[in-house]
Amino acid sequence: PVQNGLNLRSPICCIMGHVDAGKTKLLDCIRGTRVQEGEAGGITQQIGATYFPAENIRERTKELKANAKLNVPGLLVIDTPGHKSFTNLRSRGSSLCDIAVLVVDIMHGLEPQTIESLNFLKKGNTNFVIALNKVDRLYGWKTCRNAPIGKAIGQQSKDVMMEFNTRLTQIITQFKEQGLNTELYYKNKEMGDTYNIVPTSAISGEGIPDLLLLLVQWAPKTMIKRLTCSEKLQCTVLEVKVVEGHGTTIDVVLVNGMLHEGDRIVVCGMQGPVVTSIRALLTPHPMRELRVKGTYLHHKEIKVVQGIKIAAQGLQHAIAGTSLYVVGPNDDIEYIKESAMDD
Ligand code: GTP
Ligand code: MG
Ligand code: NA
Repeated sequence: PVQNGLNLRSPICCIMGHVDAGKTKLLDCIRGTRVQEGEAGGITQQIGATYFPAENIRERTKELKANAKLNVPGLLVIDTPGHKSFTNLRSRGSSLCDIAVLVVDIMHGLEPQTIESLNFLKKGNTNFVIALNKVDRLYGWKTCRNAPIGKAIGQQSKDVMMEFNTRLTQIITQFKEQGLNTELYYKNKEMGDTYNIVPTSAISGEGIPDLLLLLVQWAPKTMIKRLTCSEKLQCTVLEVKVVEGHGTTIDVVLVNGMLHEGDRIVVCGMQGPVVTSIRALLTPHPMRELRVKGTYLHHKEIKVVQGIKIAAQGLQHAIAGTSLYVVGPNDDIEYIKESAMDD
């Protein structure tokens, strides 16, 4: 994917926030899926991954007339649970991403896991945008399906705007209490020092074009070096799970490097390093969630940022959150096993 002389990989973007802020629903809105409705109790309990090709993002943002020249092939989005018992999954997601979206329910403001997520992002020095979600719940909100937020706000009554501004001001103050300057993205003149807020609705889609454009345009601009493709394998295990017809599989995120069917791999295991060979390299279709059972695409090799399901023998002891290693012809396997166990 060489564009403009740059050879950038897709950024990895983590969605974080308090339970029920609308993280999964936002992704459903972008994908055109109904993953959230299928979740037990409407609660996300696993890390997910969805790949959005640049052409889909371009399509979704064209109303902004940004002339969106995208310098990245796409965006890999990691969904995380907001429930308080999944702190480890939020930590795993945030440690793996290049950028993040912190989702805040406009009716609730900052909540305990919003703040916890914020602290993970601060700790990792991760740049993020704030999606101020559920604007459609403002009393009297007039739906402007999938419209850029500026256009949608232009259609609202004085009363709606008053409620919007009151809530926005409160939330900006709450962020200030956490030591962060925040501002509506289209008023923000200090990009970088002041974090961007994008009002959104995951139900009617207002603000989604703005959110996507911010993610794909601004991420590459601020992290060219980090996003420059490298040959060195960088691959993290997200989840370990049994899948009918494939036995125990691991869901991984490939950040850099290449994986092939048949590759000899090493991952950290509960009873020592797991050494095995990739039997199948599977991905969901673009714009589909890795954690949802569906049809998988089989690959001989993968060399771009992707959420991948790997089937291989012996994976039942693998530990999520650790790195995956490939044993090359000249590699010292004992050294790799040690590295894997150090994770
Ligand atoms: P966890 O993953 O469990 O932390 O929740 P989540 O942040 O993924 O929220 P989820 O997508 O499960 O949405 C929670 C509830 O809020 C669901 O009932 C959604 O339909 C509703 N919801 C999400 N976004 C919006 C929105 O923009 N507007 C309105 N009105 N409801 C929303
Ligand atoms: Mg969710
Ligand atoms: Na939920």
